[in-house]
Amino acid sequence: MLRLTRRHFAQTLLGTAATLSCPHGTLANTAPLLVARPGTARLAPEAYPETEIWGYGGTLPGPLLRVNQGARVTQRFVNELPQASSVHWHGIRIDNAMDGVPGMTQEAVLPGQDFLYDFEVPDAGTYWYHPHNRTYEQMARGMYGALIVEERDGGPEVTDDEVLLLDDWRLTPEAQIADGFGNMHDRAHAGRIGNWITINGRGDWTRPVARHARLRLRLVNTANARVFVLEARGFNGWVVALDGMPLETPQPLSRLTLAPAQRVDLLVDVTAETGEEAMLVSFERDGGYAIASFPVRGRDGTTTRPAPAALPSNPVPALGDLAQARRIDLVMEGGAMGGLNGAMMNGQMTGIRDMAAAGNAWAFNGMTGMGDAPLIEAGRGETIRIRMVNETAWGHGMHLHGHHFRQVFEDGTTGPLRDTLLVNRSETAEIAFVADNPGDWLLHCHMLEHAAAGMMTWLRVT
Ligand code: C2O
Ligand code: CU
Repeated sequence: MLRLTRRHFAQTLLGTAATLSCPHGTLANTAPLLVARPGTARLAPEAYPETEIWGYGGTLPGPLLRVNQGARVTQRFVNELPQASSVHWHGIRIDNAMDGVPGMTQEAVLPGQDFLYDFEVPDAGTYWYHPHNRTYEQMARGMYGALIVEERDGGPEVTDDEVLLLDDWRLTPEAQIADGFGNMHDRAHAGRIGNWITINGRGDWTRPVARHARLRLRLVNTANARVFVLEARGFNGWVVALDGMPLETPQPLSRLTLAPAQRVDLLVDVTAETGEEAMLVSFERDGGYAIASFPVRGRDGTTTRPAPAALPSNPVPALGDLAQARRIDLVMEGGAMGGLNGAMMNGQMTGIRDMAAAGNAWAFNGMTGMGDAPLIEAGRGETIRIRMVNETAWGHGMHLHGHHFRQVFEDGTTGPLRDTLLVNRSETAEIAFVADNPGDWLLHCHMLEHAAAGMMTWLRVT
């Protein structure tokens, strides 16, 4: 996906040397295996055949990794796919060498090869992992799993803690994954939007619950490009965390928007009557669909519960003085109905036809795809503000690697910590973060076809 420049090559060599001299040799040799390989899954109802997928462990979703805050995650990734891959640990404020970006933080893991991921998880919360090479194809085929980091105090008291990985699939009438990955139409429009929605790889995901039970629901949008609009019915609930990071005050639950790669942690109390069904409803153009069902059997206590306390905060550094912070604009252009004539591509001014021939459709600040120079080079600990100006006719879910940021509103107030922000068409959204994690980090649209079509840049923290 990225060109391997001299700079990147030197870094890759350093990364390799560090791994070889790793003091944790014995642990490394016995690291659990995370094997990417083809498999099958029952996505569609029984009347259809099973679907051929690619998955971690050959399963859908990949193994659920649950670790304690501050622990080390050690996984030997083995690539048994027919194409190169890598693992990106989305939302983890990770050691740069473990970020899983081929050509930038490591070499792509070729078929038959492996790579040892070994990193600490500083923050509790809901995270996930996915490939970062031909991501638009590999994720559309099913490559993703959840990484849950448990709070040090054990977290809130709940009857059940469920991870719900939401996906949409573009299936053929035989319930097989349609090809045409990364085609130009998807690149220039909304991305690969599917025709079949699953939770944890099931079209009929169901969990029986008791009335008045309190559940923690961890929702992850693993779709290539679909923005989910969701409601919980038969529940009384609160949003307690976004993109892994606790809210200072839990927010009463109403309609939710979940852009690709975003997560939300909910605490919900079952209010539906015994014998009824609570559900998660996804709103599509033509109405609402129940995508998860919670049949209510029996009861768990007799009264409603008090509102939950906030989850303990994570050790993310506080923003510095915003007035003094360095500012940069990121102007998004291009896409269908965007009127883009051309952009810098591989260091040359390129017309839109040649851009499109290379699969590109979008530009950041007049450049399509990765450049050799970072968007910004930040000193460690510096507070950076990036104003994202969406001049396109499409929404973009912008993701920053290695850091969490806050949105800065016009009145100077700031939003909750996030790692992915939806910037709707014609909208401007500013983010600010403390660049405290050294290394080279991507900033890209998580609508994967957009990222592949040029919506990708990078920052350096020295
Ligand atoms: Cu979830 Cu650059 O990725
Ligand atoms: Cu986009």
